[in-house]
Amino acid sequence: MKKILQQLVPSVLLLISCQFCTAQKKNISGSKGLKDAYIADFLIGTALNTGQIEERNLKSNELIRQQFNAVTPENCMKAEHIHPEWDRYDFTLPDKLMAYSQKNNMKLNGHTLIWHSQLPRFAHRIQSVDSFRTFFESHINTVASRYSGKIFSWDVVNEALNEDGTLRKSVFLDKLGPDYIVEAFRLAEKASPKTELYYNDYNNEQPLKRAGCLELVKKVQAAGVRIDGVGIQGHWHLGKVPFAAIEESILAYHALGLKVMITELDIEVLPRKFQGADVNQRQASNPALNPYANGIPDSILAQQAKDYEELFRLFLKHRDKITRVTFWGVDDGQSWLNGWPVPGRTNFPLLFDRQLLPKPAYHAVMGLKK
Ligand code: XIL
Repeated sequence: MKKILQQLVPSVLLLISCQFCTAQKKNISGSKGLKDAYIADFLIGTALNTGQIEERNLKSNELIRQQFNAVTPENCMKAEHIHPEWDRYDFTLPDKLMAYSQKNNMKLNGHTLIWHSQLPRFAHRIQSVDSFRTFFESHINTVASRYSGKIFSWDVVNEALNEDGTLRKSVFLDKLGPDYIVEAFRLAEKASPKTELYYNDYNNEQPLKRAGCLELVKKVQAAGVRIDGVGIQGHWHLGKVPFAAIEESILAYHALGLKVMITELDIEVLPRKFQGADVNQRQASNPALNPYANGIPDSILAQQAKDYEELFRLFLKHRDKITRVTFWGVDDGQSWLNGWPVPGRTNFPLLFDRQLLPKPAYHAVMGLKK
């Protein structure tokens, strides 16, 4: 009898907690969203993919308009998409996004002008320094000036640093030398004078990379070139969010007169071998790395809610320094973490599930404002 009871108790507890979670997944259509709850604190943003920009799914579009007042293109403004050939630009989708953000009163953050990843093929093939400089200058001029006066901000340079704070050996560093970052900001300022200009990176809350990031910012400032803020991407892991380092970084960037943004927030629940978000780093797939393909335990969702709650409590503490918190996607089904760094996984990093329903983490973040 005792043995049977011992076996039964955990399942009964699980059943009760499952029902609790289902009750939490109540429909929130018609109610106010994150953007309203945090209106006095900072903007709440999301990354949008092609389908979302084109408003293909009614329910998803309704959710985006209810929850967010800032948007970042997940891919369509990256060089390989917006500038596929030497003398050809494709503004179709970026123009649609610009119109979408205007129609919905959302601040558009352009992502990104200068990044070593997702570059068009032709850029890698350019041999001469002069031609590469022409590519660099005309890319920034053409793209930034097209949206001048309309776009709220640009991630001018993305991920230029190594983990130890030194400059990454990218094609930009190789061809143009270390001053390319100052140059990028100078060109962006000229092409889009009213737009806020940011440096964006992952792990730049970690001490060594943060120190490199502070140096980089100081160099731009010393050259008399405008830089308005630093984006901390915020690709973090369940149970391992580096709260202390994040707080120290918010203070350190703010001390340089900068605005701070969390630009690509997600809290990953699946295991992997490394931290960070270098899109060129991959890991082979294996069933042990995909434990929740048939459903995620409530205990994990509860831990994620706790992590998100603590994070937003920290953001609220520094609401005078933080101007925007952007999630890297709307719902778990959209997240890039289903395909990276291990292909074909079922990940759960965001506030809305695959049915577009709010997860416990959503209620935890909203709960801080009740
Ligand atoms: C990711 C996109 O989400 C994916 O769809 C794409 O395949 C690769 O890039 N840091 C960044 C983002 O600055 O642009 C990356 O976005 C995620 C890491």
